[in-house]
Amino acid sequence: MKYSRLVSTGSYLPGKPISNDELAQRLAKLGIETSDEWILSRTGIKQRYLVNEQSPLSTGDLAVRASRLALEKASVSPEEVDLIIVATTTPDRIFPSTACYVQNALGCKRASAFDLQAVCSGFVYALSVADSMIRSGSANYVLVIGSEVLSRILDWKDRTTCVLFGDGAGVALLKSSDTPGILSSVLGSDGQFGTGVLASDARIEGGQIVGDPFIRMDGKVVFRMAVEKLYDSALQVLSKAGYTPNDVDLYIPHQANIRIMTMVAHKLGIDAEKMMISLDSHGNTSAASVPISLDKAMNTNKLRKGALVLLQGVGGGFTWGSVLLRI
Ligand SMILES: CC(C)(COP(=O)(O)OP(=O)(O)OC[C@H]1O[C@@H](n2cnc3c(N)ncnc32)[C@H](O)[C@@H]1OP(=O)(O)O)[C@@H](O)C(=O)NCCC(=O)NCCS
Repeated sequence: MKYSRLVSTGSYLPGKPISNDELAQRLAKLGIETSDEWILSRTGIKQRYLVNEQSPLSTGDLAVRASRLALEKASVSPEEVDLIIVATTTPDRIFPSTACYVQNALGCKRASAFDLQAVCSGFVYALSVADSMIRSGSANYVLVIGSEVLSRILDWKDRTTCVLFGDGAGVALLKSSDTPGILSSVLGSDGQFGTGVLASDARIEGGQIVGDPFIRMDGKVVFRMAVEKLYDSALQVLSKAGYTPNDVDLYIPHQANIRIMTMVAHKLGIDAEKMMISLDSHGNTSAASVPISLDKAMNTNKLRKGALVLLQGVGGGFTWGSVLLRI
């Protein structure tokens, strides 16, 4: 019997952090009023990283940098990688996939590669797919990447969204093993809560952008849905593997809003100190948020060998998912 184990992680955030105060000053020049007090109290975000003229990086570039760190940490060569999955909402182009760009830039000559689109649930979806590929014997080493340049699809005149998001990438390197790492996963979707709730509702047609290309969101509906779906999904993934919330050593939810995260942890009965928070330092980086947070947990020694980790994503689609992982 084959299982997937986490071998290493990596993450990359572009440029210098931009504090809430600095962002508020920039937005003021566009006639938009916001403040550190509003952003921090409503979301828990203190700063974000954004690609810019000094760091003109693409989603693929961020993914490559984060992946190199994960491969180096594990002393795994690019040629050993069998599969690359890039979870992203902001691919570099319509096609070829960002994953193929990453495959070539890293020199993963043997790897197959594809992008996966499940918005902020993308990394958790990708982990689940990678786990299936490993369990079926189709892959040995898999790079599971979440990477986003969300700043490309932010309307800087819409203060209800532009203060929430950031750019970045995070990576988990998985390997086939005889001992279990990923214990269970649960994925879900409900397209009823699609374009009117959380979307960038545009397409390219005849060389033109048709529709609204910027992120639009009904924050209150998203908040309610996120709490409900994360809570249900957590209980499902735990019970599937024979555990309860009490058994969780570290909870790493999608880093979108501290109030959502705290509410779900509280409903589950998971102690606040068992919840990983990195949102304050990078904002909502969509598919990249969970792997960036996982990497931070690994780098700050919050995870001993054998620890039980609950990873959760939720977002546009509506989509959600949970993965239970033994380190
Ligand atoms: C977006 C969110 C932070 C807004 O918080 P909220 O408490 O619901 O705030 P409201 O939307 O009620 O807005 C309250 C007021 O703040 C204002 N406001 C909105 N954005 C603002 C900003 N950046 N700065 C200052 N004021 C702002 C609103 O215009 C509103 O003013 P009004 O009462 O005069 O109309 C919250 O709904 C949320 O976090 N939702 C989930 C979002 C999320 O996680 N999305 C990603 C999912 S993957």
